[in-house]
Amino acid sequence: MQAAELSGQRRSDPMRLGVLVSGRGTNLQAILDAVAAGELRAEVALVVCNHADAEAIARAEAGGVPVELHTAAAYPSRRAQQEAIAGRLAEEGVELVVCAGWDRVLTGQFVERFGGRIINIHPSLLPAFAGSLHAIEEALKYGVKITGCTVHFVTEKVDTGPILLQAAVPVLEGDTADALAERIHKQEHRILLEAIRLIGDGKVEVQGRTVKINCSM
Ligand code: GRF
Repeated sequence: MQAAELSGQRRSDPMRLGVLVSGRGTNLQAILDAVAAGELRAEVALVVCNHADAEAIARAEAGGVPVELHTAAAYPSRRAQQEAIAGRLAEEGVELVVCAGWDRVLTGQFVERFGGRIINIHPSLLPAFAGSLHAIEEALKYGVKITGCTVHFVTEKVDTGPILLQAAVPVLEGDTADALAERIHKQEHRILLEAIRLIGDGKVEVQGRTVKINCSM
């Protein structure tokens, strides 16, 4: 699939990231911290947020990276909103789009435009609890013993793209959604950074549904 375009090649150095956020922005923070600490060879070229009250906006500002607000209300349709966002990301030379807590389904046009260059972090072990904005609560309610998080490439069908990395998190006796979420978020931050690193280093090759990680490259 298109993600193979990324394998074996670095486009610019550092790789330019576009980060889409809707909420707290702890994953964005992990990216900003890792870049600032020299632990992630990447540059946050643009942060796009779709909610004016999202904590993520302040995190981007504090991190000194460009951030833009594109609310759904400012556009006549989801398609128009995402066309505008895609246009801005392209103008900023974004090579990898990172959905880091983005709460809207990406349009086919958006996915097509950045084909194979969009990743998402989801708080479950996909395909379990796919398509849910409350995957942690649902896993707890369902009574699973192990849940976790997944970084996957984004395709048109929500939460079903090829899986890049996963981390398992055990559900503990008496867990609350908050306690479980905190442990999942720790793992999210770790695997999201690792996924960006692997892509930036050209070590990722998508073969159908399978993502091959070439450690020898
Ligand atoms: C994360 O749990 C992520 O998996 C999901 O949205 C949440 C975003 O958290 N897609 P944050 O905004 O990065 O703190």
